[in-house]
Amino acid sequence: MDSIQIHGGVALQGKVRIQGSKNAALPILAGTLLTKETSYIRNCPKISDVYGMINLLKSLGCHVSWEESGIRVNAKDICKGEMQGEAITGMRSSLCLLGALLGRCGEVVMEYPGGCVIGERPIDLHLSALSKMGVVFTEEQGFIRAAAKQLNGAHIKLPMASVGATENIILAAVTAQGDTLLEGAAREPEVAALCRFLNCCGAVIEGIGSSRLRVKGNRTLHGGDFTVPADRIVAGTYLFAAVATGGSVLLEEAPYSQMEAVLHVAERMGAQCIAAREGVYVQAAKRPGAIPCLRTAPYPGFPTDLQSMALVALTTAKGQCRIEETIFENRFRVVEPLRKMGADIQICDAHSVIVKGVERLHGKAVEAKELRGGAALVLAGLMAEGESVVSDCKYIYRGYENICKDLRELGARIVSV
Ligand code: EPZ
Repeated sequence: MDSIQIHGGVALQGKVRIQGSKNAALPILAGTLLTKETSYIRNCPKISDVYGMINLLKSLGCHVSWEESGIRVNAKDICKGEMQGEAITGMRSSLCLLGALLGRCGEVVMEYPGGCVIGERPIDLHLSALSKMGVVFTEEQGFIRAAAKQLNGAHIKLPMASVGATENIILAAVTAQGDTLLEGAAREPEVAALCRFLNCCGAVIEGIGSSRLRVKGNRTLHGGDFTVPADRIVAGTYLFAAVATGGSVLLEEAPYSQMEAVLHVAERMGAQCIAAREGVYVQAAKRPGAIPCLRTAPYPGFPTDLQSMALVALTTAKGQCRIEETIFENRFRVVEPLRKMGADIQICDAHSVIVKGVERLHGKAVEAKELRGGAALVLAGLMAEGESVVSDCKYIYRGYENICKDLRELGARIVSV
């Protein structure tokens, strides 16, 4: 069941419930390490990255159980800050355990988190910021040892609004001696959700949602009962599926207020997007209109994680568009399979492409290479004439709980095979 088969050409109709946010759930699960009490995290998506995080927490000695509507975690017995083996290198988001484990144990040994196909994914910003808080890093046979006799609050200025570095600094700061002032913090809603979770556990974090965060130190955290917000990237994925197929869809629980840049692009492509009580309603044009330029940016700009989905929707738009990817250096892997399906895309350089709308795409067998590019290929199959098969879908299941079921509920002819 590692491939997805699609018969394209159906305009999506109906409503779909949006899952909990992967990129909020992961750092929040890491944050449960900071207390010896039990936390209950609701609306976690059932995806392989969350299962991977649960395995890591268990390997550290946490008691973790998946219950009816959430995950119950108790970290009172965590035994060691050592994480080795495939899980820590196979999953970038485990990097946020670094800050949490330093906050709880004062020491971590971990394999160097690997890069991936979308970019080299360095961690220099994490290391330099945590060093300012008193962490000493040493390298031993490919492992990183991080140790701090005492974590101290610090005044940190991030030169780049790194989401992961922001999260690690916050997770280390809540139990450090003294306050931390973080300037240049990432403003992504997933960072805000982490801060709200930690505050519900007794932390005092001010400036949530802004690029200037003040974290009070010397806090002892208690357990928290918290609900993970809906996933704005999954909502945006299905939004562009509606735009690409000329459909009309209600995205239940989609976080309208976190999607302004995305909705603005969809509207410029001819769709009508309306904030409804239940979420976001989108009525797409029969054929999307092109936009002259689309540029990704840190939040609240257009998210890099939806760049491939917008690219797919633009392949049959009336006109041409220049897409600029400013966050990662290799996030156009989806171009080659889209060309195979008939798209007219010119790669200008590592950070920009020009896509010219064609009449239609043709179904082909294509291969997912990474999470969001893989999901974009499913969208291409929805809009293509004939049958497509997307293989290597394990990448897609890292972030999408029920992509086939969700899209089938919207009328798509799609099955996992
Ligand atoms: C988070 O990754 C997300 N992952 C990514 O989503 C998302 O694309 C990214 O933020 C940007 O929004 C999770 O939250 C689990 P960054 P992260 O640190 O934290 C460079 C998905 O599809 N950088 O904000 O790794 C880095 O190379 C994933 O769900 C440094 O140079 O992203 C990149 O070019 C993909 N040095 C840029 O900053 C550092 O120390 C943004 O990276 C750290 C990052």
